[in-house]
Amino acid sequence: MSIPTPTPNDHFSFGMWTVNWPAQDQFGSATRAMMDPVYIVHKLAEIGAWGITFHDDDLIPFGTAPAERQAIIDSFKKALDETGIVCEMVTTNTFSHPIFKDGAFTSNDRQVRRFGLRKVLRNVDLAADLGATTFVMWGGREGAEYDTSKDYKSALDRYAEGIDTVAAYIKSQGYNLKIALEPKPNEPRGDILLPTVGHALGFIACLDNGDIVGLNPEVGHEQMACLNYTAGIAQALWCGKLFHIDLNSQKGVKYDQDLAFGHGDLINAFSTVDLLENGFPNGGPTYEGPRHFDYKPSRTESEEGVWESARANMTMYLLLKERAKAFREDSEIKDLMKSSGVTALAEPTLAAGETIESFMADPSTFEDLDPDQVADRGYDYIRINQIAMEYLLGAR
Ligand code: GCO
Ligand code: MN
Ligand code: MN
Repeated sequence: MSIPTPTPNDHFSFGMWTVNWPAQDQFGSATRAMMDPVYIVHKLAEIGAWGITFHDDDLIPFGTAPAERQAIIDSFKKALDETGIVCEMVTTNTFSHPIFKDGAFTSNDRQVRRFGLRKVLRNVDLAADLGATTFVMWGGREGAEYDTSKDYKSALDRYAEGIDTVAAYIKSQGYNLKIALEPKPNEPRGDILLPTVGHALGFIACLDNGDIVGLNPEVGHEQMACLNYTAGIAQALWCGKLFHIDLNSQKGVKYDQDLAFGHGDLINAFSTVDLLENGFPNGGPTYEGPRHFDYKPSRTESEEGVWESARANMTMYLLLKERAKAFREDSEIKDLMKSSGVTALAEPTLAAGETIESFMADPSTFEDLDPDQVADRGYDYIRINQIAMEYLLGAR
């Protein structure tokens, strides 16, 4: 196997805050200087990326005066034009400034909620102006440390009100923009509202404008909740809500590590790429959006290491893509998919036209069935997974 080279056709994109993280943490100050957004756009183009995303404050520092704000936007647009880099998604920082210490849309202080909503709506206009098609909303501060500090019912009412208001505004302006909520269980709050893909899907179903609201699941965030990322995005795909993805990795249930993609749970990264690239084994909805990375170059790295790590994300993805494709094309795997029942699961349990009455009157399904005999089979799942691992390790 050779090391693949990323190109814009691979649709890799990066959050500006990823490569531009100055690497400060809870225990230490920044270890890297911040870079100019225009320089970042040029560097991403140079390493073969296709897109860029940002929080309003990543590009335009909080509190910038309107004239200077426009000058920054103009120079960013010029860099996009010069490089062909696409601004595919925009998101809003409603977590850094102290005003948001109790959240934005769900702060107990109404003035904060109204300010947060204005900040988000202003950024929706910018997203549309830049041609972005996804508007991510990660409510990192929407939560609590203490159950006694929040009326969760009111918090969810206000959260829904906020998202519905933004969605209604997008529709009223005719913007080609969809909202993608990003779940996370905790950090920076002790507990964050909409902690997992499942919680967020349930919430979207209760919105008035939920038709343009979907998800932006992040690998590490599901894994922080001890959940399976591949299974999570599969369910989002199944109900037509996988609007965007944040690829990175995590080693188990601990703080949000934001490691380079594939550097944590490699086996799960394999099944994620297999699903994204090859789809469900029996067909169905596929993900056509950007391959977006949201990771943090570790605090130990120099600027050179930052670009190396950005390359590492793309290389890992391409290697896994090649491995997953070879796995799916293996003839033994094709046979095993049949013998193990993977393909048979696509067949509806009730026959076409079968009524509940005829089903319940059919003795072959229950009265005459010998459960011990039906149970007496193997599914060969270990064999399938072992072959997958042999592909993953380059042994096949
Ligand atoms: C995290 C989050 C954030 C969000 C981003 C989008 O690591 O906690 O991923 O990076 O994705 O802020 O709003
Ligand atoms: Mn994260
Ligand atoms: Mn993220």
